[in-house]
Amino acid sequence: MAPLTHNMSSETGDPSQAELDWLARCIRGGFGLVITAATQVLSGGRCWLGQPALVTPFQQNAFSTLAKTANENNALVLVQLHHGGLRAASDLNDGAAPVGPSEVQPGGRYDLGVTELKDKDIYELIEAFVRSAQRAYDAGLHGVELHAAHNFLLCNFLNPTLNKRTDQWGGSVKSRSRFLIEIIRGIRARLPRQFLVGVRLSPESYANIVGIKLDNQLAVTRLLANEEIDYVHFSMGDTFKSAKDKPNSDLLTELSKAVPEHIPLMVAGNIHDGIDAEIALEGGADLVAIGSAALGNPDWVKRINNSTPLVCPPYTKHWMIVQGFTSQGLDYLMSHPSLIEPVDVE
Ligand SMILES: Cc1cc2nc3c(=O)[nH]c(=O)nc-3n(C[C@H](O)[C@H](O)[C@H](O)COP(=O)(O)O)c2cc1C
Repeated sequence: MAPLTHNMSSETGDPSQAELDWLARCIRGGFGLVITAATQVLSGGRCWLGQPALVTPFQQNAFSTLAKTANENNALVLVQLHHGGLRAASDLNDGAAPVGPSEVQPGGRYDLGVTELKDKDIYELIEAFVRSAQRAYDAGLHGVELHAAHNFLLCNFLNPTLNKRTDQWGGSVKSRSRFLIEIIRGIRARLPRQFLVGVRLSPESYANIVGIKLDNQLAVTRLLANEEIDYVHFSMGDTFKSAKDKPNSDLLTELSKAVPEHIPLMVAGNIHDGIDAEIALEGGADLVAIGSAALGNPDWVKRINNSTPLVCPPYTKHWMIVQGFTSQGLDYLMSHPSLIEPVDVE
């Protein structure tokens, strides 16, 4: 199951019983590997009011209930570790400007500008990611996914248009990847090898984000392949689309040709049913992650295996409440186009 923000945690990131129940429902619904929502590793970089965090013993304890359910159901749970970077919301971060690899003056897209992280801030952030991974391990979870996609902090560092640094954290692809790689090495130095570490990347620019280029992301992937990671996860938007930079080729083919054999390739985006999943697997993916289809079908895997029809989006509000979404969760889901029926039809 793909990581899916549901906005159901408290304002300080404490997971709610509703979200734990929903994730448990997905585990029992047959997903072999469940990746949780983007989760804060320290109090900054928050993007959503109800975003979960993994920084306190209480939060660790909440996540441990998922580990228990997963073990009872022969599934794996990974927590997705995240910092919002350029996309952090200042009203959720004590009015502070977002932080990123390089300074941006106030105005335009960033009212408050972007504050450039200092060397010591980067080391603190690396430690924060590693500490949350340690908490995930202590909670009994099976691993972490580092969120380096979607224009969030780790993605900002990889992006040469945003990362204009000339120190050890910028310049070459190797230096731009250093932040991410130091987190991986930090986790590996502290936790046993069987603890899983995956990395989520955007393969190319999407929406109005600039600077994420396929060749760069493939170069990053080759560097990651030299580290002890367990999979690379490309957030495709649409798994079956053409590559922007190589219009005569499809993106999945480009990725599967380029990702080294020993690194499992996971893809997400527009994989709704079993046939889509099979096509993606035949097209070179090793693992497929289900996003929107899982929101309305927490038992997606069981339905596919039993040939039970899936419920298709847009989902009715009533259906989502039955799945366990709170009104706060539902409000967030409604901000995504065509996910929820605006008015429930009887
Ligand atoms: C409601 C919602 C919440 C999401 N939250 C996250 C998230 O926390 N982390 C992340 O990396 N991607 C997130 N995504 C992206 C999904 O993981 C997935 O890549 C995307 O939905 C495309 O897959 P799909 O077509 O199967 O929905 C979210 C998507 C949706 C619709």
